[in-house]
Amino acid sequence: MSRTEILPANQPMKTSVAIYPGSFDPVTNGHLDLIERGEKMFDRLIVAVLTNLEKNPLFSVAERVEMLRAATRTIPNVSVDTFSGLLVDYARQKQAQAILRGIRAFTDYEYELQMALMNRKLASDLETVFLMPALAYTYVSSRLVREIFQHGGSVAGLVPALVEERLHQKVYQGKN
Ligand code: PNS
Repeated sequence: MSRTEILPANQPMKTSVAIYPGSFDPVTNGHLDLIERGEKMFDRLIVAVLTNLEKNPLFSVAERVEMLRAATRTIPNVSVDTFSGLLVDYARQKQAQAILRGIRAFTDYEYELQMALMNRKLASDLETVFLMPALAYTYVSSRLVREIFQHGGSVAGLVPALVEERLHQKVYQGKN
């Protein structure tokens, strides 16, 4: 929702900025579905890839950013960036008012609630907005995509074509 549509004419114009943070290893069609939904709600949506991952990622940060940029190229007002350190600090730096996160199933809720409340404790003026992806993507996760692909299963329809191609190169052609 654009603030310009709901603010009275004498109010200064504000831009609503949201951050969609994550590992995106790799970006899935579920992520893209959420980005498309989020883009309609905020004036600017920044997809932010965490660089200091504790997990052992399949794709490098540069590869993940490149795939995200390609996949979101045609979606307006969406940019892709990286961040390290605390998400609330990054959000402040970007003057964001909201953090966007997806909730697929009941099992996501506990982890997401804990993060949202911790982020609120750290920055009380920053809201976490949860969106649900399309039903077709409620079972899709980057972890399962990696696992299925590494064991020879098909991930067609679960990730953008470019990601499928990159998975092929990474897993079967051993490209780093
Ligand atoms: O896609 P993921 O791995 O579920 O994303 C998790 C992410 C990146 C949103 C979370 O780990 C994060 O925000 N990390 C940054 C460090 C931080 O702020 N930690 C405190 C969160 S309560």
